[in-house]
Amino acid sequence: MVWESVLEKFKELFGAEGEIGVYFAPGRVNMIGEHTDYNGGHVFPCALTIGTYGVARKREDKKLRFYSLNFEQLGVIESSVENLKPEKEADWTNYPKGVMWAFGEKGMKVEQGMDIVLFGNIPNGSGLSSSASVEVLTGYILKDMFGFDVTNQDLALIGQYSENKFNGVNCGIMDQFAIAMGKEGHAIFLDTATLKYEYAPIKLENAKIVISCSNKKRGLGDSKYNERRSECETALAEIQKVISVNSLGELTEEQFEAHKDAIKDEVRRKRAKHAVYENQRTIKAVEALQKNDVKLFGELMNASHVSLRDDYEVTGIELDTLVEEAWKVEGVIGSRMTGAGFGGCTVSIVKDEAVDTFIKEVGAAYEAKIGYAADFYVVEIGDGPVKLA
Ligand code: GLA
Repeated sequence: MVWESVLEKFKELFGAEGEIGVYFAPGRVNMIGEHTDYNGGHVFPCALTIGTYGVARKREDKKLRFYSLNFEQLGVIESSVENLKPEKEADWTNYPKGVMWAFGEKGMKVEQGMDIVLFGNIPNGSGLSSSASVEVLTGYILKDMFGFDVTNQDLALIGQYSENKFNGVNCGIMDQFAIAMGKEGHAIFLDTATLKYEYAPIKLENAKIVISCSNKKRGLGDSKYNERRSECETALAEIQKVISVNSLGELTEEQFEAHKDAIKDEVRRKRAKHAVYENQRTIKAVEALQKNDVKLFGELMNASHVSLRDDYEVTGIELDTLVEEAWKVEGVIGSRMTGAGFGGCTVSIVKDEAVDTFIKEVGAAYEAKIGYAADFYVVEIGDGPVKLA
């Protein structure tokens, strides 16, 4: 078991005494509904069975000691619950510290220090939400160890708050929500305007979800994520001059076409078009799945990628190569980039008998064009956070 080796490391570094808890929070993949969650639209993500393991213990003093098996070269990183502020030289501890800070902001002050060891088997910076996984995991640990009265949905909101306010990334609610509310075998159809959600079973008869990781690293903070978000905000303000809506997600395609000239800049018009059409595509995709029409679901995934490539411009040569090569493989039902983009991963639905060919052919074409290899993961949809021991 993975967690047992994380526990061993904890004992080796910090001793075996006292009450030690072992926890897990998943990563996530978004099936469709990209860059819609800060536009009041719908998303359709699911939690994975890969994620972050955490071993933790409360301390009597105020000290924080962190160690990650993914960043062993950084050694033990020390801090204090009394001095929670983002470090300029950002390291991964800004995520757990941000969540501790956010609990305090919400009236649940963390008064005691902690020792924490983490290990994640999600590739870092791959667009499978390793950071949101650490945030939800930290919240879950705090809830369990300090007895804070919070629901899993609260953990999602606190995680997002910490990412926005402590780490300076204006992300939407999708990642933290998908992780905190994950359900085995199901994706979450979430309306980000109201947080109303529904679990939809993902029954892929004779097909698998394959994640292709471009190995091009992406940092949300230094990417154009915040820029896209503000382009959409400006476009919304322009369109609100001619039609009364609270978000781009409230518009149908027809309404958008009728009023799009209110958006004065061509680039912004494309961004808004993506937000509107992608939201409608997500609604249609979930309907298709409910009717067991996986083929249509796949076509909508493909259309989502084209829109992210041409109108939203968040793909890049690595993700485009992975997707365009995937489309050539017989037995691929749908393929698109997933997450913020600019690097990271793609998600594909691939028929069982085509999975090996897919990995071989897409892998070879990618390496030939890009100059380094991609990684492939056949994934399962898992549950939200859990205490393992
Ligand atoms: C990142 C953000 C999410 C969402 C996606 C794009 O993963 O954290 O909130 O905006 O990008 O869909």
